[in-house]
Amino acid sequence: MYDMPLEIMFDLPKESIGSFRQALAHPEKPSPFSPLIELLPLLPELKRQYAQRNIPAQILFDTMRDVGVWVRTHHRAHGEWGFSEQGWLKNHFGFKLFKLGRVQFVLCEGYVPAMVYERNGEIRLMAPEQMRYRRDGQTDGTCGNFDSEAFTTRLEQKNGTITGHLIHPDRGMVQRELSTLGPDWRLLYAPQTMVLDMHIPEEGPLDIPACIRSFYSAMDFFSRYFPETPFAGFTIESWLLGWPVAKALPGHLNLPRFQKLFYSVPIKEDMEQTLQRVYGHGHRPESAQGAPRDTTLRRVVADLWASGREIFGCGGFIPILEGKPQFYHFEE
Ligand SMILES: CC(C)(COP(=O)(O)OP(=O)(O)OC[C@H]1O[C@@H](n2cnc3c(N)ncnc32)[C@H](O)[C@@H]1OP(=O)(O)O)[C@@H](O)C(=O)NCCC(=O)NCCS
Repeated sequence: MYDMPLEIMFDLPKESIGSFRQALAHPEKPSPFSPLIELLPLLPELKRQYAQRNIPAQILFDTMRDVGVWVRTHHRAHGEWGFSEQGWLKNHFGFKLFKLGRVQFVLCEGYVPAMVYERNGEIRLMAPEQMRYRRDGQTDGTCGNFDSEAFTTRLEQKNGTITGHLIHPDRGMVQRELSTLGPDWRLLYAPQTMVLDMHIPEEGPLDIPACIRSFYSAMDFFSRYFPETPFAGFTIESWLLGWPVAKALPGHLNLPRFQKLFYSVPIKEDMEQTLQRVYGHGHRPESAQGAPRDTTLRRVVADLWASGREIFGCGGFIPILEGKPQFYHFEE
């Protein structure tokens, strides 16, 4: 049932199949496909794991189509057919990542740096202790900029009362002043709590209803096939969550609407991932002046860059309460 020609399972472009087959026939010869060929011995064990948990073959096929996405990316970046994302695809071949509808998910220990508390459906985020933030509330060192007056966070729990630094969920800004949450707030998430970490493959627009359907599919999928591991919410770290770009875009576009679904969490990031994703792998412009301006997003990024504003990715969290994702802000 899980058997299918590799070229089809990987959704390889027609033009690349000849080089792929050659690399497959001579695995000992170095080729641009070698990083993919080296992953293939993991396939039998992967299929066994799918079968053991009764996971439908369709999910394996949907997940493995990502190989084709990265073969196309390699071609755009290097002008030849090949594959260079062995590290990333180890998630797929290692039975860690599953594509469920528009979005890919990994059930893992959360690494997004925030403490998330809940009380009667209300959510508050605080910074973990011993973190350094600049006076503007962003992580010290964001875009390589350190603040001589950065502050170090405290987080204390006494008689059930929590004292710490709130994170503003809209722009992920950490407050310098301390705030207090009473004993009726419960901790929902801290780094290392199990979560569904998400990734967005390059595959058409970021349709928001399709993403939300994916979130529900993921909750259903992981509860059904991994019932031994409960999870507290969804996490992401990505250029897509970078609010300086998202908030400069017209609000009806997918990117700003996606960003607003999440409670924002600051992370130490710079603009490299944004440049790579917006102008293409291997096509980083040298300067804002030389950046192509042929799409709305490219114009917004080039303008921010030219004006010297910081561009950075962010982390995000969506809590799951009573079996439903609770978005920070959702517009129909
Ligand atoms: C995420 C993604 C699907 C968003 O695309 P989208 O749904 O079209 O985005 P929006 O509706 O917000 O934006 C629309 C505008 O921005 C442009 N745009 C969107 N993503 C773009 C990109 N990666 N590069 C250049 N322009 C882009 C569109 O062309 C459109 O401009 P136009 O109206 O002038 O044609 C797309 O950027 C993508 O496929 N990225 C690669 C995957 C990725 O980055 N994943 C995250 C990994 S951390």
